[in-house]
Amino acid sequence: MALTIKVLTLFPEMVRTVLGTSILGRAAQAGLVVYEVTDIRDFAVDKHRTVDDTPYGGGAGMIMMAPCVVEAVEAVRRDERAPVVLTTPQGARLDEALTLALLAEAQTAGELILVCGHYKGVDERARELVVTREVSIGDYVLSGGELPALVIADALVRRVPGVLHDEDSAATDSFTDRREGGLDCAWYTKPPVYRGLEVPEVLLSGHHAKIEEWRRDQARQRTSERRPELGRTAGTEAGRDARTTSKRTS
Ligand code: 6GU
Repeated sequence: MALTIKVLTLFPEMVRTVLGTSILGRAAQAGLVVYEVTDIRDFAVDKHRTVDDTPYGGGAGMIMMAPCVVEAVEAVRRDERAPVVLTTPQGARLDEALTLALLAEAQTAGELILVCGHYKGVDERARELVVTREVSIGDYVLSGGELPALVIADALVRRVPGVLHDEDSAATDSFTDRREGGLDCAWYTKPPVYRGLEVPEVLLSGHHAKIEEWRRDQARQRTSERRPELGRTAGTEAGRDARTTSKRTS
């Protein structure tokens, strides 16, 4: 059964457009995933289709109301085990390990529900009643949860077996086992000389073992220069564990 990704949003057209494009779109065309995009506004309870209101106790900003969020989730959820992810800057920061944990949960339930947060926040009772995980995509503030939800969907869908073809060369991407959880190496294509800059000679040598060694060394060097904190677990049991299991909890 194809994994169904359900996105609850105030901007369904924006979400549909991205889900229909590139690898995300190709995965759906191949029948490997199904996308369902739901307008949270359809679950507003008043005739003006209001989805937000001012915070109790005062303060600036608007809060997404609990009823429309809770009822939208309950309307689309088919399996009680389904992960219900709220996008919020206060969530757990997304990384490859969290992506794989989410994918495993989604595969068990057959579905993943992504709730795009908006305004200043979502009424805490909606979180208590239906949200199972809160996820952030980094320490900066975005205007809405659509881009984060699409980032989560992309990171997850590319890990669904069969989605990536060989030409997508995922095996040596940054953060994979082949890269010891670290960064990828430098890559070159034609022409061999551009504005006086030459492609490293080893890459033109045809010596596959030497090329592989050069790339691995490059990747390690890049990781220690740019992201030394990744290097601490690179190549270790703990690092591999975090990359391949779903032990992480929300
Ligand atoms: Cl998940 N939401 C918003 N609004 N901003 C963010 C974010 C999420 N992750 C990083 N910045």
